[in-house]
Amino acid sequence: MQGYRKGLTNYGDPDFSAFIRGAYARGFGLTEEDLERPIIGIAQTWSELNPCHRNLREVAEAVKRGVWQAGGLPLEFPTISLGEIYLSPTAMLFRNLLSMDTEEMISGQPLDGVVLLGGCDKTLPAQLMGAASAGVPALTVTAGPMIGGRFDGKKLGACSDCRGMWNEFRGGAMDEETLEQVQGELFPSAGHCMVMGTASTMASLTEALGMMLPGLAAIPAVNSRRLRMAEESGRRIVAMVTESLTPERIMTREAFENAIRILMAVGGSTNAVVHLPAIAGRLGVDLPLSLFDDLSRTTPLIANLRPSGAEYLMEDLAEAGGIPAVMKELEPLLNGGAMTATGKTVSENLASVPRAKGWQDVILPREKPLAPEGGIVVLQGSLAPEGAVIKVSASSPDKLTHTGKAVVFASQEDMINRIDDPDLGATAESVFVLQNTGPVGGPGFPEAGFLPIPKKLLEAGVRDIVRVSDARMSGTAGGTTVLHVSPEAAVGGPLALVRDGDEIRLDVPDRKLDLLVDEKEMARRRAEWRPPAPPYRRGYRGLFLEHVLQAPEGCDFDFLQKTTVPREK
Ligand code: FES
Repeated sequence: MQGYRKGLTNYGDPDFSAFIRGAYARGFGLTEEDLERPIIGIAQTWSELNPCHRNLREVAEAVKRGVWQAGGLPLEFPTISLGEIYLSPTAMLFRNLLSMDTEEMISGQPLDGVVLLGGCDKTLPAQLMGAASAGVPALTVTAGPMIGGRFDGKKLGACSDCRGMWNEFRGGAMDEETLEQVQGELFPSAGHCMVMGTASTMASLTEALGMMLPGLAAIPAVNSRRLRMAEESGRRIVAMVTESLTPERIMTREAFENAIRILMAVGGSTNAVVHLPAIAGRLGVDLPLSLFDDLSRTTPLIANLRPSGAEYLMEDLAEAGGIPAVMKELEPLLNGGAMTATGKTVSENLASVPRAKGWQDVILPREKPLAPEGGIVVLQGSLAPEGAVIKVSASSPDKLTHTGKAVVFASQEDMINRIDDPDLGATAESVFVLQNTGPVGGPGFPEAGFLPIPKKLLEAGVRDIVRVSDARMSGTAGGTTVLHVSPEAAVGGPLALVRDGDEIRLDVPDRKLDLLVDEKEMARRRAEWRPPAPPYRRGYRGLFLEHVLQAPEGCDFDFLQKTTVPREK
């Protein structure tokens, strides 16, 4: 069954249900001819509380043109939107809510296919999770990255420069007037953050997974090519319905391996190490942390993009050929047989893509990469028995093997209250530990892992420190920052037992993160440990704390993963 007769509302009489639905469709101005067409839903996340999605209404109109051209009936519908900067305590708390909204609105409404419109950090993974569970053909069209800002003759990249310049201001190297001028230049257009932060990473990986037309991820939001490709996506989704090209057929284990390779090659966000297992989990595909590390060791970092690289932004990547050019460079490492939304395999898509000649500053040849291994490394050890991650490509090379004494903050509040205390017993060699900021403890797994450098160290010229936490970090941030320590402190992981002055050893080449405290002392501390009181009990937030999985499992809800609870018909 296809079109508006699909999934009838239950009034106890299916014929009546079809009749009344047809009547209401006519009330919308649709004709019988329209209703014979396959219905393509357009899941819209435009919102005035999400500036990264400012252009999505225009994008939706372009998608609709394509759907009409190909013989479909486009119907736009709203879902919740997650604007990273506007949601409290953190947008991540609501990623699973958007995924549930997306899944249920796709499967509860008479849709034959769906185009997912998103962009800001959490929206793309949430929409892919929902579409994967709903199981109808789906295609993503993103808002696209902003163009770069300009200040004092330099290109600005949001939000890497937001953080860098804030540090300059905190350290006294920038005055308030200059900071205000910078604030006005950081976001010069519609679109999501334009460095290789989480939004650009997830757009790139959506393309690498095969769930978006090739070349779209990097095109700036304001470039008309984006609208033309949105129109093409509208045409393509109608064909995908005919071909029954569902997310399950595209997002296979091979496709996820390709996406992880691209994550490593572009120096993408550590947040992808949480989002990819969550999407895969909806399809019963297991992506252990060890797979990320294995692929990282054998994938060169070839995209010279901020924050991992020196200067380039997404607009430069688009000029250099975009993600297809990155994939072409890595082709010998990719699973070429993986199916994509074009109806062709990765190899077939890449057959007509030239290697990125002439732009070798942005996409480097695989033989002469920026770094021989990927940008993200997985750590394990007595402090992180179930794993932790670090973005080496954005870390200080001299801190990747480091032993230092812990300066411990029991919570974000504790950190905010004490970080600039002149009496804080911290030096440039300290290891700054933040507890209780994981999925449960945060609550909601906030991007709090990038601890600010204490003012007294900033004033002394220190520009990086070693940080360890169970939190996440914005993909736009840099610095030597160990994240996602699992199990998190709030569920009794060893991180909860670290005390001021303990020695912590970080050994990135050996993939180790160890707390150098003997087992007898750890047992004593463990016996004393009590879990923090849950901050929420009711509603969605209560549900989140009760059912959220740990970081290595993607922080999805236990009851949404396919292997745990398959979807009922
Ligand atoms: Fe939306 Fe950066 S805040 S992408």
